[in-house]
Amino acid sequence: MRFSASLLVLLSALAASAQNGTSGAIPSPTDTTTNTITAPGVSTPAPTPTPSASNMPTGGVTASAPSATASTGPIASNIPGLNSSVALNANQVATLQAGCQALQQIYQPLGGSNWIMNTGWTSTDMMSCCSWVGVGCTRVGVVNKLELPYNNLTGSIPDSISSLTSLLKIDFTGNKLSGALPTTLPQLASLKILTLDENQFTGPLPDALTQLVNLTDIHFRNNSFSGGIPTSWLQSSIITTIYLSNNQLSGSLPDFGNSTALVTLYLDGNKFNGSIPTTIGGAIELQTLNLRNNSLTGSIPDTIGNLGNLQSLSLGNNQLTGNIPTSLGNLHGLQTLELTNNQLTGNIPTELGNLANIQRLLLSYNSLYGPIPNVFANFQYVQMLQVNWNQLDSAFPSFSAPPRLAYCRVSQNVFQSCPPDNVLNDPNSFAFQCGLNCNTPPAGANATQSDAVGAKALVGGSYLTYVSALATVAVVALCQL
Ligand SMILES: *[C@@H]1O[C@H](CO)[C@@H](O)[C@H](O)[C@H]1NC(C)=O
Ligand SMILES: *[C@@H]1O[C@H](CO)[C@@H](O)[C@H](O)[C@H]1NC(C)=O
Ligand SMILES: *[C@@H]1O[C@H](CO)[C@@H](O)[C@H](O)[C@H]1NC(C)=O
Ligand SMILES: *[C@@H]1O[C@H](CO)[C@@H](O)[C@H](O)[C@H]1NC(C)=O
Ligand SMILES: *[C@@H]1O[C@H](CO)[C@@H](O)[C@H](O)[C@H]1NC(C)=O
Ligand SMILES: *[C@@H]1O[C@H](CO)[C@@H](O)[C@H](O)[C@H]1NC(C)=O
Ligand SMILES: *[C@@H]1O[C@H](CO)[C@@H](O)[C@H](O)[C@H]1NC(C)=O
Ligand SMILES: *[C@@H]1O[C@H](CO)[C@@H](O)[C@H](O)[C@H]1NC(C)=O
Ligand SMILES: *[C@@H]1O[C@H](CO)[C@@H](O)[C@H](O)[C@H]1NC(C)=O
Repeated sequence: MRFSASLLVLLSALAASAQNGTSGAIPSPTDTTTNTITAPGVSTPAPTPTPSASNMPTGGVTASAPSATASTGPIASNIPGLNSSVALNANQVATLQAGCQALQQIYQPLGGSNWIMNTGWTSTDMMSCCSWVGVGCTRVGVVNKLELPYNNLTGSIPDSISSLTSLLKIDFTGNKLSGALPTTLPQLASLKILTLDENQFTGPLPDALTQLVNLTDIHFRNNSFSGGIPTSWLQSSIITTIYLSNNQLSGSLPDFGNSTALVTLYLDGNKFNGSIPTTIGGAIELQTLNLRNNSLTGSIPDTIGNLGNLQSLSLGNNQLTGNIPTSLGNLHGLQTLELTNNQLTGNIPTELGNLANIQRLLLSYNSLYGPIPNVFANFQYVQMLQVNWNQLDSAFPSFSAPPRLAYCRVSQNVFQSCPPDNVLNDPNSFAFQCGLNCNTPPAGANATQSDAVGAKALVGGSYLTYVSALATVAVVALCQL
């Protein structure tokens, strides 16, 4: 009878190993306990302990001997890394052992001996891996998390990672992983969050990741992925969060027509070109859209004004032309609008005054003309307001500074006139807080200068108030009279 044979093997293992308070197991091929947990990479749920597992942990074999059929009842407890009150049945033991073996197989390919932390990973105890550093398990010992950030992992992810079929979360942030992603990745059927930020991965973004029915979060910042972004990622009804900042992605942006799940999209620091598709207006759940620092051309589509959930919109450092769409004024939840360093022209739309929640309004380095709209006085939450390096050419406004203004830049425009002295010298005025300098330049002085910084500056996230006396700034006029 196989059960007895297993028991004998176990007993001899017990005799050969120190009592260590760790776990024991008597996998039984006859165990029929219902178990919804599958055994990754194991075709039979009954691995037989072998004598070569000389440190087969034994201390916690439960007192009550399993019945001959072993159809019910716990048969292993005191598993390292699990709650000591948990006891595993035979199938669960087999699943745990398969998980530990799968982990052991990725250790060497990922340069395990050079990891900063690798506690546990050299153990030959194939039931101990829930206690290995970076490994997470369910209550019953199913390996479901692998979190090894900033740990000096090297090499490429081996295909065998697909044996860890129950993984919900992988976090390899800040390592030196390289090469293309394994083609077996789409076999990690349970995966929800895949975080590979700050590595050296190359190759294309795999279209097939959308086969992962629970994958919601893709974090691939600061790698060297190339090619385009798969349309399927954007059209997925599952994926909510995509971080692809600072890669080598190129080509045009795909169709956003069916991007109804997407909440967060970072594509900044790539080489995308062409125009922003008008279908962007279909990505109605978007809260953050960052297309900064690409090579985008054309105008900002009006349809962005349909993205009623948008909180942050960054389109700076591109080659966008045309006017700022008035429809952006519809984005009442917008906190950040960053259009710096494009080739935008026209007036600053007065509709932007409707951005009741705006905190950062950054329009510097464009070719905007006309006035700073008076409605900007109404911003209750604005902290950063930057319109420097444009062609703003009307009278500088006399309104009071918005109450939370902390960092303001208005220099390098061609304002026609300054507010009267009583406004200029009033510490509560917008002109004063933006450091507007209405002195005329000394003859022959260069017309370039560093930006005047407002009377309050944002330092390290807190507000440091200082007042730079206008008279001490012996620089060129910001205000050409
Ligand atoms: C017992 O556990 C200790 C610490 O957890 C470990 O160093 C040792 O190798 C274990 N001994 C055996 C026989 O597993
Ligand atoms: C272990 O499980 C028991 C029973 O379910 C529970 O009361 C206890 O809080 C758990 N301990 C830990 C550390 O989770
Ligand atoms: C990281 O691993 C490399 C080998 O790949 C090794 O030379 C280096 O010393 C390791 N760095 C740290 C901080 O352990
Ligand atoms: C996906 O998640 C749901 C809900 O948590 C779960 O019921 C289902 O089993 C998961 N699918 C896979 C393939 O893991
Ligand atoms: C990511 O890349 C950007 C651009 O190259 C760089 O400025 C930033 O420091 C990087 N971040 C990390 C955490 O490496
Ligand atoms: C959205 O998906 C449907 C069906 O999958 C397709 O017919 C339609 O063309 C798509 N719309 C856009 C704008 O991509
Ligand atoms: C723009 O992105 C590139 C990577 O594509 C990065 O090296 C550079 O530092 C970024 N520049 C800015 C101003 O963010
Ligand atoms: C975008 O860049 C690719 C090269 O990466 C080039 O072939 C294509 O013509 C460019 N498209 C536009 C619209 O500039
Ligand atoms: C003005 O700037 C130019 C270029 O930076 C420099 O060569 C020149 O000496 C400057 N002239 C004065 C008067 O400062």
